[in-house]
Amino acid sequence: MPIQAAAAARPEGDPVTAPSPPDAHVSAVIVLAAGEGTRMRSATPKVLHEIGGRSLVGHAVAAADGLAADRLVVVVGHGREQVTAHLAQVAPHARTAVQAEQLGTGHAVQQALPEAGDVASGTVVVTYGDVPLLTAATLQALVAEHASAGNAVTVLTARVADPTGYGRIVRDAAGTVAAIVEHRDATAEQRAIDEINSGIYAFDGAALLRCLAQLRPDNDQGELYLTDVLALARADGGRVAAQMIDDVWQTEGVNDRVQLAAMRRELNRRVVERWMREGVTVVDPATTWVDVTVSLGRDALLEPGTILRGATTVDAEALIGPDTLLVDCVVDRGAAVVRTHATGAVIGAGAQVGPFTFLRPGTRLAAGAKAGAYVEIKNATVGEGSKVPHLSYVGDATIGEGSNIGAATVFVNYDGVAKHRTVVGDHVRIGSDTMLVAPVTIGDGAYTAAGSVITEDVPPGALGLGRARQRTVEGWVGARRPGSAAARAAEAAQGAEAGQAPAD
Ligand code: UD1
Ligand code: CA
Repeated sequence: MPIQAAAAARPEGDPVTAPSPPDAHVSAVIVLAAGEGTRMRSATPKVLHEIGGRSLVGHAVAAADGLAADRLVVVVGHGREQVTAHLAQVAPHARTAVQAEQLGTGHAVQQALPEAGDVASGTVVVTYGDVPLLTAATLQALVAEHASAGNAVTVLTARVADPTGYGRIVRDAAGTVAAIVEHRDATAEQRAIDEINSGIYAFDGAALLRCLAQLRPDNDQGELYLTDVLALARADGGRVAAQMIDDVWQTEGVNDRVQLAAMRRELNRRVVERWMREGVTVVDPATTWVDVTVSLGRDALLEPGTILRGATTVDAEALIGPDTLLVDCVVDRGAAVVRTHATGAVIGAGAQVGPFTFLRPGTRLAAGAKAGAYVEIKNATVGEGSKVPHLSYVGDATIGEGSNIGAATVFVNYDGVAKHRTVVGDHVRIGSDTMLVAPVTIGDGAYTAAGSVITEDVPPGALGLGRARQRTVEGWVGARRPGSAAARAAEAAQGAEAGQAPAD
């Protein structure tokens, strides 16, 4: 976590500067994610929909992690089995609290308390599971302001063009935050307020505990509103303040798939912009999609239509695209991957891939190797400088260094029951249209003849030849296809040969 890392990095003997105020310590972050998300019209719970390679709740957790809180609690309700299973995968440190019925945001936080630990002496942060652009830095700034001002509640707010549906920030004559009033409970005058509640707050833990106990469902929806904690905290003698954020995207939630697409595009714009500032050339940011989990090296070049997903890493000076999808791939320095679809492949330094190449999991191309046009490779290693240039399938194989696999070679790895391996040594020449029927081994420096079906091992330096001998039937076309264009062409050629013969 950034805060701990900074502390750990302090050189020994450095004078210890003023300690941060005690309540800058975050006891718990509570992420509300129990809502149904009806407008998604989906069998998948809303917070499990993905943008930028992460679920919405995954983004919420990533931002929350920046606070290095003692505990992280996600309140789950609708689809809770799926959400809980997902969190166990992507955020095993997160605890879940069940809110079986969605009786309001205040009720949701009440359900989280048993999992939140001892919050009475620290800060509690509340965020939503469906607000994916919120950053750790924004939460850190909110907590820093909350602690240094000594507030009971600090709410993150924004000015928006259309505040319809949001809770409004109501201020008193002195401009201090007095309350949050929900749209449906607001007067016409309050509805004119354009400062809205993001739903993201820092609370003094003790004040939160006192005020949560006082919530009443006396509103239009008959719910327990977390927003009522602000007025209660003020009545309790606490200081309540707002921190306004200009970057409205960070406070926006996802309710339907139109918003999901808008958030995805904006997140991608931010990710791609960050990589450009780090030294990556992106020819067309609008058609280049980079997951938040991807990393890119300096002077990498991304052509239009490049999609980089998952744990993909692209080293310096590599060229990707156009129209290339890489999922969980490693591309080393200076490799070129053109018009390719690859998953779980390792592409070595200076290797060349594409166009129209399909690399499946377990593909490892060593430095300077080549996988050319209409080539599919899976679970196979292609050694340094070895080439599979055209129209081939390589499955379950090891190819050594400096070997060439002729066009239209097939590594026949499947006998209908089990998969078998093929081993090709160093400096081997596999002739075009060879079937290598696994299990089979081609020794170092061996050749195979074009069109061979190789079912037996070929020792080092040998030629493997496994095909029928050619038989030529002279005059067949003239006899069997008289008068055809082919027959006329053949006659003309024979005539010319005959006429030329004396001159030779
Ligand atoms: C809430 C705020 C509103 C704010 C808005 C920002 C309240 C009463 N209102 O509105 O001031 O402007 O968020 O988006 O807090 N949730 C639960 N359990 C519940 C209810 C909600 O977990 O019982 C979760 C939802 O899954 C969602 C979040 O809380 O992630 C907000 O719920 P939603 O219904 O979208 O917000 P509103 O109550 O309309
Ligand atoms: Ca919402």
